[in-house]
Amino acid sequence: MCGIVGYVGEQQALGVVVDGLRRLEYRGYDSGGVAVAADGALHTQKRSGKLANLDKALDERPLPASSAGVGHTRWATHGSPTDRNAHPHLDCRQRLAVVHNGIIENFAALRAELERSGHDLVSDTDTEVVAHLLEVEVTRGADLTRAMQAVCGRLEGAFTLVATSADDPSRVVGARRNSPLVVGLGEGENFLASDVAAFIAHTREAMELGQDQVVTITADAVEVTDFAGNPVDAARYHVDWDLSAAEKGGYDWFMRKEIYEQPRAVADTLLGRRGAEGELQLDEMRLSDEELREIDKIIVIACGTAFYAGLVAKYAIEHWTRVPCEVELASEFRYRDPILDKATLVVAISQSGETMDTLMAIRHARRQRSRVLAICNTNGSTIPRESDAVIYTHAGPEIGVASTKGFLTQVVACYLLGLYLAQVRGTKYGDEITWILDKLSQMPTEIQQVLDSMEPVHALARDLAQTQSVLFLGRHTGYPVALEGALKLKELAYIHAEGFAAGELKHGPIALVEKGVPVFVIVPPRGRDSLHDKVVSNIQEIRARGARTIVLAEEDDDVVAPYADQLVPLPKVPTLMQPLVATVPLQVFACELATARGHDVDQPRNLAKSVTVE
Ligand code: AGP
Repeated sequence: MCGIVGYVGEQQALGVVVDGLRRLEYRGYDSGGVAVAADGALHTQKRSGKLANLDKALDERPLPASSAGVGHTRWATHGSPTDRNAHPHLDCRQRLAVVHNGIIENFAALRAELERSGHDLVSDTDTEVVAHLLEVEVTRGADLTRAMQAVCGRLEGAFTLVATSADDPSRVVGARRNSPLVVGLGEGENFLASDVAAFIAHTREAMELGQDQVVTITADAVEVTDFAGNPVDAARYHVDWDLSAAEKGGYDWFMRKEIYEQPRAVADTLLGRRGAEGELQLDEMRLSDEELREIDKIIVIACGTAFYAGLVAKYAIEHWTRVPCEVELASEFRYRDPILDKATLVVAISQSGETMDTLMAIRHARRQRSRVLAICNTNGSTIPRESDAVIYTHAGPEIGVASTKGFLTQVVACYLLGLYLAQVRGTKYGDEITWILDKLSQMPTEIQQVLDSMEPVHALARDLAQTQSVLFLGRHTGYPVALEGALKLKELAYIHAEGFAAGELKHGPIALVEKGVPVFVIVPPRGRDSLHDKVVSNIQEIRARGARTIVLAEEDDDVVAPYADQLVPLPKVPTLMQPLVATVPLQVFACELATARGHDVDQPRNLAKSVTVE
């Protein structure tokens, strides 16, 4: 997620803002910029890359002294990480500057409207439309606060906005919908920021903005309204976190914070994917419908957790498109002399977009004239740059080495690809696709429901903290979930953990089962032919051999309940969407067990966040 800082007060605005951005660097970003209002004008500087590039530019061209300013570190979503796309973005007259965190879902229509009325937009971002919409309101006589209220009423999606104006340097105005914005309350100064880490060096008195609210700060006052301009009371609170805790949003680990960000990450990955007629649209697809109709085989390539996301996606893609879909480890793919041609679509899944095994695999595929589509979380990284098309997950930066929100959003992005292929190839009717998209849009709520009931899983993890082996079983989409659950435990707790297809148990792995061995079992929804009953039989088999069964099943599954030493209830969701809820308790379990063992959850031994060597 982007970092935002706004300031009005007695200190030098530029120094306060840049220092605040530095304290938000942990959020991950690929460009940065600032704007200050001084001498009746706006003065801005912005650069792609790290803040050191911005510092260098500011040294070469210092900005004037000012009491009001805004700053931004950008995690690119719409538009690659370039100087031009860096924030702040300005209006035509260069009198207004705005920074933004989130996704403006209806930016394309707003951009077209602005360009039709003569506005000249120079970047590829969704944010820039806000600067010009503010200009329209200010030109009609509104002050910056009124202008922000009016503009927010026209925006769809998730946004935190902060703006400053050369015409009124005594104020900075912010707004938020579905994206955080906090106010820092000082003496003779006030702050706006994405999170408190940006200003707790100056003040620990804060105010959290609520949904659909606008805040105006001056050196001596803070006013909060709704988008209609009605005054609103916002609760003040004292920040007692240290800086490290503030960076993690109060969580002990980035990984835990990212587990709890998953509802938002999934919702953001789904944002802006539907056109005016409700049809699915993928703005970075860059492969024509004709090319997609020519595809007669799909090969998903990835590593680690991303590979397991591909295994989940296979079930949906084949079911929806009737196109054969293979899933391969990138490190094996190119050495087996795969059969590839231009009718093969190679789908590379990578959170970082820099995994060398995956990169080398797509280079091999392109040499064989196959088309390559990347599913990636890092805008502008190498793998999407070397692909024919890309679907970005909008999970925000994933800092914990163990991937969590990366996995869930990769599954969602793969589903969007499968539905898009079905739409283009006509293997699903529009209303069927709409039904599935509507079910997907309910998933953030379902995931949140699971997150709200994790205390028993925390207790289980602490109880099993010294265990030396854990098994995971699943069938159908539950099988790759079992593999992912085992990987989480391996990489965080450094113990033996293994995932199996439940049907494979009797072909060998059941020999591992003895008294007290903890076995997680992901049970498919009932009503799915005999799949559910077969897994119940598997649970009976391992219980008969003394296993401690931890059963993840639908909350009202009274058939399986008698065989569970511990039941982890899941919301009732369609089979293909069960991985989005079943994976979460396994992430929480691994995080908590590793914490109980005193491990560094964010930086597990021997591991790197991005494996840039083969
Ligand atoms: C996941 O928890 C691991 N950190 C690792 O398996 C990771 O998924 C794999 O290295 C692929 O990384 P990528 O998604 O950035 O390509």
